[in-house]
Amino acid sequence: MTVPPPIVAPSILAADFSRLAEEVRAVEGAADWLHVDVMDNHFVPNLTIGLPVVQSLRAATELPFDVHLMINDPGRWAPGYADAGAYNVTFHAEACDDPVALAKELRAAGAKAGLAIDRDTPIEPYLDLLPSFDTLLIMTIKAGFGGQRFIPELLEKVRTARRHVNAGHLELRIEVDGGIAADTIEQAAAAGADAFVAGTAVYGADDPAEAVRRLRGLAERAATGA
Ligand code: DX5
Ligand code: ZN
Repeated sequence: MTVPPPIVAPSILAADFSRLAEEVRAVEGAADWLHVDVMDNHFVPNLTIGLPVVQSLRAATELPFDVHLMINDPGRWAPGYADAGAYNVTFHAEACDDPVALAKELRAAGAKAGLAIDRDTPIEPYLDLLPSFDTLLIMTIKAGFGGQRFIPELLEKVRTARRHVNAGHLELRIEVDGGIAADTIEQAAAAGADAFVAGTAVYGADDPAEAVRRLRGLAERAATGA
């Protein structure tokens, strides 16, 4: 199985929101992307941060932003995050009638486009859309809250996606999100994921940068079968 070197994306959902810039700097030099969870209290029950916070943070770090929109009507809001300088903007398949059109719009705005698949959504209907996307985020929990237990059965979707991506020679990152930690990342990597979001496992650690490096090491070894 050919898989590019793993990306680790700490989720600031698990950071101390009163010291966000500091928390972001704590993973600079170790993290590949910074995962930013935007929740609207409609698509998911939880409410987090929005565009003004992303705009302010953008000026505080060089890290590429991996914005995960858990919101209704992403067509209305997603391009604003691309304009704010997000590297990748991911929206949920369940919230969007025309994912390909929105992906085009995000790419035209200079961002990469990501499609997210929540716990109860099958992957098969979306496989043919993947050439329009740069990242595919497969939830390994139900979207909405950090600190939940990883659901190993959802890795079947990762395996399906990886087979499809490799067979079609697609340039697409397969990202997993939810419950990723030292005891779960290897199985996710072995299933074919090559980008790993980790909130609690990074910001719950005494040394967040060290936690990122450790996770990457585990993912690398699992992906190469070493
Ligand atoms: C939850 C978010 C996740 C969350 C993961 O819906 O999408 O990014 O921060 O948190 P952990 O790593 O604690 O499961
Ligand atoms: Zn997320």
